[in-house]
Amino acid sequence: MSEALIKHFATKLIAWHGKDGRQGLPWQSIRDPYAVWVSEIMLQQTQVVTVLERYPRFMKRFSTVKQLAAAPLDDVLAEWAGLGYYTRARNLHACAKQVMEEFGGTFPNDPVLLEQLKGIGRSTAGAIAAFAFHERAPILDANVKRILARLFGIEGAIQEKVVNDELWQLSKILLPKKALDMPVYTQALMDFGATWCTSRKPVCLSGARKCPFEKECQANLSNQVLLLPRKVIKAKSPEFNCDMLLLRQGASVLLQRRPEKAIWGGLWSLPESAWRTKEKSAKPSGNVVHLTAKELFKLVLPDENILSILKGCHSIERGLEIKHVFTHRRLWMQIWHVSSGSAVKFTSDDLKWVPLRQLGKYGLPQPIKLLLQGLNLARGDDLRN
Ligand code: ADE
Repeated sequence: MSEALIKHFATKLIAWHGKDGRQGLPWQSIRDPYAVWVSEIMLQQTQVVTVLERYPRFMKRFSTVKQLAAAPLDDVLAEWAGLGYYTRARNLHACAKQVMEEFGGTFPNDPVLLEQLKGIGRSTAGAIAAFAFHERAPILDANVKRILARLFGIEGAIQEKVVNDELWQLSKILLPKKALDMPVYTQALMDFGATWCTSRKPVCLSGARKCPFEKECQANLSNQVLLLPRKVIKAKSPEFNCDMLLLRQGASVLLQRRPEKAIWGGLWSLPESAWRTKEKSAKPSGNVVHLTAKELFKLVLPDENILSILKGCHSIERGLEIKHVFTHRRLWMQIWHVSSGSAVKFTSDDLKWVPLRQLGKYGLPQPIKLLLQGLNLARGDDLRN
């Protein structure tokens, strides 16, 4: 392992950032832990361009941890709509409450304590501690793993515990000596992975720019840049079908709140059937071409509501089939259009007739929101968040 590289890494990386890093992003200049925390959570799994638009809006809506903790979860989910990975929004809300209740409204500066908060993993805890409190805390997200695996020629699969432990160890020994350098260093590390030492088109291979580490990088020296970090081949995610009811009554549509622990937990969606595993040879809809209203309602609604709602419903029409790709599964949603003559009352609080012009107030899963927009069921501006 190169002693010189370890010694000079932080200084060289900070110099790189001054010249070629991303500058002027709104979250780079903030040191308020609440603001740092929100930006870090939003930046996970969301493109920087999207965060540039949505982060200021979120901060305007929930300016303090106190405001966020006091807000109903539905409001937080509605504000998060379109950003995906809704567990992040539920965790943000739960974490804000935890900070209020367990830490008197002040974020702790110790990464070990930060990591105990809902939705904050070890790397995010390190980033918050570094950005907001100048703590000498390491980070290790996917970009940093790639940089380190290449620089130090780490051959093992990064999912393996021993390899992961080794990477954490490296991330720690590379930290700058001066605590005051922690924010710029941490940002530089993130930016270097996101823009130069990228997974498929690293600058060292394109030849467009000169990587400051080209002479020390083990992967570069041994022509293994694209081979590191070693990837474990993932099995294709399983596919499922379900039926969804788009039931309209006048200018309202029937929405159902999804269970907290399910996919899209807590969001308002169309009533849907249980998911069926999609047979490899089956058509996307699982071969269901015709359904009567009664058969459909039995699949998607609680028993006690079926008879009363069935009375006013005559026609049923097969609509679009929508494919949605989640992280670990793919879902084909068959939409069925039904009109109801009367707005039947439901026994459950989780079923609700929602006037179309009020849809914008609800947190809807992105494909359902697009479906309702696409069908022109609501005015576009009402659905915008
Ligand atoms: N991803 C996570 N945190 C980030 C940050 N602070 N800047 C850029 N990308 C990030």
